[in-house]
Amino acid sequence: MLKLPAKIGSKINPSAPSTTTPETSEENNTKKSARSVIVKLENVRKTYANGAVGLRDVSIELYKGDFKFITGHSGSGKSTLLKLLYGAEQATDGDVIVNGFNLSSLKGNDLAMLRRKIGIVFQDYKLVPKRTVSENVAFVLMAQGYTYKEIQRRVQPALKMVGLLHKADCFPEELSGGEQQRTSIARAIVNTPPLVLADEPTGNLDPDNAWQVIKILKKLNSFGVTVLLTTHDEQLVRAANHPVLHLQNGYIV
Ligand SMILES: Nc1ncnc2c1ncn2[C@@H]1O[C@H](COP(=O)(O)OP(=O)(O)O)[C@@H](O)[C@H]1O
Ligand SMILES: [Mg+2]
Repeated sequence: MLKLPAKIGSKINPSAPSTTTPETSEENNTKKSARSVIVKLENVRKTYANGAVGLRDVSIELYKGDFKFITGHSGSGKSTLLKLLYGAEQATDGDVIVNGFNLSSLKGNDLAMLRRKIGIVFQDYKLVPKRTVSENVAFVLMAQGYTYKEIQRRVQPALKMVGLLHKADCFPEELSGGEQQRTSIARAIVNTPPLVLADEPTGNLDPDNAWQVIKILKKLNSFGVTVLLTTHDEQLVRAANHPVLHLQNGYIV
């Protein structure tokens, strides 16, 4: 098992007390307002150096434990939105707040520390070809100075979570596209980040493999991980049944 915070771990403990007692709507509202915000964009505009506009005026809030899709045509601003959240781009105007940190004022080390709390999954996997599956997953921990023992303790459960323990010693070229993407998910979650951002993670996969990826992300979400995922696969969005933010020409519509 991946190491989970006690609060999240109790959710998957079958002996934990049931939380299905009926609630009044007032109690429900109180609970909602007590949930903490993990991602917030406020009046965010992103104009690239060449004048192209990525986002025009976007305000959104994500709460811890949310699972949301971002949909929209190519060029509507989906990747821009995620890049602003992991600090690959900076907003031209407005505030981008992740885990309580305003990214416009974060630099160098602080930005690197924040990125450690974000798992990122890309459409094209971005695995290191000359490294095995387990080395690809371990790499991020090695770079962060984890001990060999701690790395072992984390890599195995991450691979188990994505169903790839049996491929631990394979190289990426020996894997199917779906397996490569699952490796990249293991790499994204080996650090147990509270937030996972996935930019078209199913874009190169057939429907069966795409659904496997969604199932893994759903499972993570059931442990309390917040997931934000871009796609233009409407069928997948309907099947997964999570709320959708739709982008059009740089606006949320
Ligand atoms: N690095 C960049 N430099 C200039 N323009 C960019 C850059 N990245 C994205 N854009 C532009 O920003 C707009 C939104 O792009 P993007 O966020 O990649 O959309 P999506 O992911 O929805 O396809 C597009 O018009 C695109 O051409
Ligand atoms: Mg994109």
